[in-house]
Amino acid sequence: MTTTPMLDSPATPLARPRRVERLVVGRPTSDGAGVKLTRVLTQDLQRRLDPFLMLDAFGSDDADDYIAGFPNHPHRGFETVTYMIAGRMRHRDSAGHEGLLSNGGVQWMTAGRGIIHSELPEQEQGRMEGFQLWLNLPAKDKMVPAWYRDIPAGEIPHWRAPGVDVGVIAGHAGSGDGAVAGAMQREHTEPFYLDIHLDAGARFQQPLPAGHHAFVYVYRGEAMVGETAVPAQRMAILTQDEAADGVALATGDQPVRALLIAGRPLREPIAQYGPFVMNSQEQIFQAVEDFRAGRLG
Ligand code: CO
Repeated sequence: MTTTPMLDSPATPLARPRRVERLVVGRPTSDGAGVKLTRVLTQDLQRRLDPFLMLDAFGSDDADDYIAGFPNHPHRGFETVTYMIAGRMRHRDSAGHEGLLSNGGVQWMTAGRGIIHSELPEQEQGRMEGFQLWLNLPAKDKMVPAWYRDIPAGEIPHWRAPGVDVGVIAGHAGSGDGAVAGAMQREHTEPFYLDIHLDAGARFQQPLPAGHHAFVYVYRGEAMVGETAVPAQRMAILTQDEAADGVALATGDQPVRALLIAGRPLREPIAQYGPFVMNSQEQIFQAVEDFRAGRLG
């Protein structure tokens, strides 16, 4: 137990917070030209956490772990959301766009019908840390034109209370009149993407629609999610319950940083082949053929 006084966030108290269904340890892997990362949301969880397809966490002080970056590669059928906690990454794509993703910034990219891009570190030393989330698109939007938005740290809205600072990347934080709308809104899946910073002894409650699939990824410290202690580098998948009204986070005597990610499931067939995520094998064959024929960028 902690002797730190509890700081309560003024959001509406929840009557029935979700519980933790299970804790997931990410799988160490490498991707791109040899970037070491941890795949937190793996393919076997795509139905359980629909509309989210993947979450990678990367974090290293050793340039050898990240310097090779992600040279030219294609995507089709979904969105990538890259959140850079520390470091600098240069993005270039086949539509002629270029952007620099740096400390605290987000890049939201809709691959849609197709894009070829590279993501390369623009530093030769120091810390590189961040996340890449893949958010599925509904069948009707899988072939929309590619699009992207760079969101620098200064353009991410924050919800604040004593001991609590929430970066609102997507959806909204808090509730009622005190709610803060995020940098991005998405109509079909209504995703929430919150970066929650809690001081020692702080609490935060976030209402969530009961039908949303939701998880918390703790990346610093140990959080209490409902009644369950969730250590750093763990994903806590939250229970589905028609009567549940949100999620409650609290800390002990150490500060915590955690992502809260939630979205409305699409409940459509998922066919994935590497960087292509469609609804059928036929559409996957088409994507591969389009890529080979140079029709993807
Ligand atoms: Co990519």
